[in-house]
Amino acid sequence: MTFADTRTVVIGGSSGIGYATAEQIVSEGGEVVVAARDDDRRTEAARTLGPNATERAVDITDRAAVTQTVTEAEPDYLVCTPAYIPTGMDISEEELRQAFEVKFFGYYYAAEAARQVIPEDGAMVFLSGEAAVTPDPQYFAVGVVNAAVETLVKYLALEYAPVRVSAVSPNVVDTFGMDDTMRDRIASNVPVDRVAEPEDVAAAVCLALDNPNLTGETLRLNGGSNLV
Ligand SMILES: NC(=O)c1ccc[n+]([C@@H]2O[C@H](COP(=O)([O-])OP(=O)(O)OC[C@H]3O[C@@H](n4cnc5c(N)ncnc54)[C@H](OP(=O)(O)O)[C@@H]3O)[C@@H](O)[C@H]2O)c1
Repeated sequence: MTFADTRTVVIGGSSGIGYATAEQIVSEGGEVVVAARDDDRRTEAARTLGPNATERAVDITDRAAVTQTVTEAEPDYLVCTPAYIPTGMDISEEELRQAFEVKFFGYYYAAEAARQVIPEDGAMVFLSGEAAVTPDPQYFAVGVVNAAVETLVKYLALEYAPVRVSAVSPNVVDTFGMDDTMRDRIASNVPVDRVAEPEDVAAAVCLALDNPNLTGETLRLNGGSNLV
């Protein structure tokens, strides 16, 4: 896999899976545009990634800003990772709408902008998550949004073809530095007996960007949790 002579806009690239994806793309010779809201974290991410990284302030719910960021970057690839995750089923309608604003409408805004500039051999990858297919009341809002994202990629894969559009769906990922007790408990519930690292998910994102025969699919990195 090589990303030499390519540019990827990573919305959500200042943290977690988005940052790990930007890191892998840069290590393979690609350019990245890190887009997110928090100035300090975004600037630090771009600085750490090195000279192949630039950064842009954007809130993915602001369609005009997203369109400007993506079209000006003229990327070969687009990656979207942001989420708003209110927990529990007892959430307000406003919180549920905000979950859709960020992760459904935001990704759709970015996709519609990217289609204007992306080359025919380009690709887009969006983050989903296990709660789309395994209901967990704690993750009701993001679960239903993730299911919408997984359906969205099928429609966009057809509409934008030959540009490829896919999703990557992890289960729990250690993006927040979990303690050993929590790590052991989560690992013991999945056949792979480990907790996913952001780099594991980033590798799947890069595969989905790079593989010319993959589109409309959701790659599941759940450690085999659906088997037990
Ligand atoms: N981590 C897990 O265990 C896990 C499991 C299953 C699925 N997922 C999915 O994977 C994705 C990434 O998760 P993560 O753990 O890597 O998250 P993370 O570490 O919290 O990173 C989220 C990134 O998105 C940016 N962001 C958030 N809201 C934004 C907005 N409105 N506009 C622009 N940027 C925004 C954040 O920067 P700013 O806040 O500065 O904007 C940050 O760069 C999410 O969609 C999540 O649902 C994660």
